Amino acid sequence: MWDRLLTGCHLATMDPAVGRPFGAIEDAAVAIQDGRIVRVGRRVEMAGMRARSIESLGGAWVTPGLVDCHTHLVFGGNRAGEWEQRLGGADYEEIARAGGGIMFTVRATRGSSSGELIASARERLRALMGSGVTTVEIKSGYGLDTATELRMLNAVKALAGSEPVRIVPTLLALHALPPEYTDRRAEYVQMVIDEMLPAAVGSVHAVDAFCETIAFTRGEVETLFKAATVLGLPVKLHADQLSNSGGAALAARYGALSADHLEHADEEGVAGMAEAGTVAVLLPGAYHALSETQRPPVDLLRSHGVPIAIGSDCNPGTSPVLSAPMMLNMACTLFRLTPEEALAGMTREGARALGLQDEIGTITPGKSADLCVWRVSGPAELAYWIGLPGPEKRIVAGLDC
Ligand code: NIG
Ligand code: FE
Repeated sequence: MWDRLLTGCHLATMDPAVGRPFGAIEDAAVAIQDGRIVRVGRRVEMAGMRARSIESLGGAWVTPGLVDCHTHLVFGGNRAGEWEQRLGGADYEEIARAGGGIMFTVRATRGSSSGELIASARERLRALMGSGVTTVEIKSGYGLDTATELRMLNAVKALAGSEPVRIVPTLLALHALPPEYTDRRAEYVQMVIDEMLPAAVGSVHAVDAFCETIAFTRGEVETLFKAATVLGLPVKLHADQLSNSGGAALAARYGALSADHLEHADEEGVAGMAEAGTVAVLLPGAYHALSETQRPPVDLLRSHGVPIAIGSDCNPGTSPVLSAPMMLNMACTLFRLTPEEALAGMTREGARALGLQDEIGTITPGKSADLCVWRVSGPAELAYWIGLPGPEKRIVAGLDC
């Protein structure tokens, strides 16, 4: 006898093996046992099966729980003031060079207590969860000294232990050069490798960096990636966001889980990613908030067969986003993804970007029962509405929450 049977629903399994758009199975049922999906199929095929709890969902659509594979949601303060400056004509890179931007948030984060960091991040996390997110990646990167980076990672751990959501922590070690290391770039990178990285091993699933003219060079990123690889930590990269810095190719050379942003990536980088199995994480919130005009090379990603994931990039500077369905919409309207590609980007491919493709991301027997129940007439509607309110029900590891 199963624990739960969800029936009277339609499934967007997102499982390519189903062989239909969205992996759709209409008039379907899903059986759950010990927090896992154990059986998926047409309702008629599963009639007569016994479960302790049988729920008829009245024709709702069930999707995998949404995966937000790129956020910076732990930080102090906010950057509404800087946003107003940008509306008045100031430029993101100019603000960063003048000591604002990421450094503004670093000062606010260093000045926040653990309690303050956890409380403000919890609000944002709950907003994302309410919008359908069941797995979220959270980066450090606003501390830029070992103590504050660890404080951020402890805040992530506290959230993971107290909210019904799967959290995947990342050390964003090279995000910006802190002012105390001006003119001592190599020393900062060395400190990260000698001190910060070893201190974070065991608390993070991967190491990230920002490769850009206003951030770190390819050489500096490579030094970090080599050290991470020696420690057995996977890498990922903020790549080719504001200029073509060769970031996509670099990420691919180190077998990165993902290369993220990619507005300025070229074909060589995309081909490298295809070869390495590196996922392209596209971030339409940052593209929108920075009023960018160069779209990521979606056609090249498609033609080379690079998996495309979508993230919120929830951060105070370039993407103050608190809604996953809003990202589905923007991925379609701004980047011309199909609604199916967008939903795959926040389910199956988001899971792949985190290395969790065997555990979550599709409605497939054996995977964790992380599901969302939506009162819509079809799965394309999730991306059609501009910021659809969250699902009617969120299920994480088989439990309603
Ligand atoms: O993903 N690109 C670098 N990092 C963030 C922005 C961080 C910030 O401005 O605070 C991003 O867009
Ligand atoms: Fe980011």
